Amino acid sequence: MTLTQKPPRPIRSYVVRQGRSSKSQQQARDLYWQQYGLNLSEGFCGWPAVFGRDAARVLEIGFGMGDTLITLAKAHPEMDFIGIEVHPPGVGRCLVQAQAHGLTNLKLYAEDALSVLEEAIPDGSLDKVLLYFPDPWPKKKHHKRRIVQSNFVNLVAQKLKPGGVFHMATDWQAYADHMLAILEACPALRNTFGKSTFAPSQYLRPLTKFEARGQKLGHDIWDLVYERR
Ligand SMILES: C[S@@+](CC[C@H](N)C(=O)[O-])C[C@H]1O[C@@H](n2cnc3c(N)ncnc32)[C@H](O)[C@@H]1O
Repeated sequence: MTLTQKPPRPIRSYVVRQGRSSKSQQQARDLYWQQYGLNLSEGFCGWPAVFGRDAARVLEIGFGMGDTLITLAKAHPEMDFIGIEVHPPGVGRCLVQAQAHGLTNLKLYAEDALSVLEEAIPDGSLDKVLLYFPDPWPKKKHHKRRIVQSNFVNLVAQKLKPGGVFHMATDWQAYADHMLAILEACPALRNTFGKSTFAPSQYLRPLTKFEARGQKLGHDIWDLVYERR
């Protein structure tokens, strides 16, 4: 690379769409980020210090508008939840809901999940990782943007405790097949339902907002559940 050349742009699994936050979602960032937000600049998280206790930890990647994350955090006060999302209105809405329900077992990152995994999540520190309805990037030229790639899956496996669970779901069959192939090739993970087998559809999880939209259009659902060896 010469001095005048820019470094290549990393391939991202998302496009941040700005400017559609409501006023309350925008205000939430100012009012509640200090309480619920975590920042990459803080480096690796010592979870007991972050949550003030040592409880089971669940990470949701790409929580969208936060409905599933809030539902789970409300239903399981005995567990701690961490959400990662880059969509500003989604982060704002999740903050509003977290505050409205007085949640004390939830923290959020508003950054790229890959950076958060690499720079902030200690190895072997998570009990569960949820990846529900990641953007399918259906066009062949965009397949490289899919978040489920070997490097991402290896990273997730590294962050799980032994016996920890990685739960994924999609309503795009070609992406489900791609996920299955990538996950089966990860030596650190074991398919809970047997080699190259999908989990029962909607296995032990709430219906997500994105999923509900797809259901109205008659989409099928594929769940995948893997365990850290
Ligand atoms: C199709 S939506 C699904 C949202 C939610 N899980 C649901 O089922 O309703 C995928 C979400 O993942 C987020 N996302 C994609 N890549 C991401 C990344 N690298 N880091 C954080 N969020 C990401 C997008 O902003 C988007 O909100």
